[in-house]
Amino acid sequence: MDRPLRVAALASGRGSNLAALIAARLPVEFVLVGSDKAKAGALTVAAEAGIPTVHVSPRDFADRVSFDRALFGKVAEAKPDLLVLAGYMRIIDASVVADWEGRAINIHPSLLPKYRGLHTHRQCLDAGDTEHGASVHFVTAELDGGPVIAQARIPVMPGDTEDALAERLLVEEHRLLPAVVKAIASGRLGWSNGPTFDNQSLSSPLSLRTLL
Ligand code: GRF
Repeated sequence: MDRPLRVAALASGRGSNLAALIAARLPVEFVLVGSDKAKAGALTVAAEAGIPTVHVSPRDFADRVSFDRALFGKVAEAKPDLLVLAGYMRIIDASVVADWEGRAINIHPSLLPKYRGLHTHRQCLDAGDTEHGASVHFVTAELDGGPVIAQARIPVMPGDTEDALAERLLVEEHRLLPAVVKAIASGRLGWSNGPTFDNQSLSSPLSLRTLL
């Protein structure tokens, strides 16, 4: 590609992953940040970086699919090459997700396929795992179920609490997400009926180390 990768992001929360992505100064152009929450910190992060923002409220729509069509329609209008879900906390209708095959990624705070959905740190502690981590995966209709691209791992320490684990993992998330977007921007990572890395089909997740 002879122009910077056009990146859009959706986020529902404070936006620390978005902030890390912006701070990484990758050769990408951020074309839009959208949220389902008017007060999402992510919208402030984006506005402060001079990135166009959009808020679409689910309350203004009769059902999920009409909301999804409206929000993802706004994203499509910005013509991104890549859509990053950076703490976007809503389930997306399968018909809408289908339009983004191979072009949307999500960051999830667990070593997928372990612990899809919410409360991943608690689930990790409850299971007595000695290791925790974060995954970036391609988005499919299955919640947190698309092909995993790369993972960052941290040890679980004796006496760890949910908050302590979340805080330590967030540091790794902030390295993992920019590393994956960088690999997509450089063309190393792509999609051809499934994830590809250096033109080979990617059969198991990369480690963060491989991407740094
Ligand atoms: C992160 O833990 C991310 O993995 C999860 O939601 C959280 C978002 O945090 N999907 P932030 O809004 O990026 O600070």
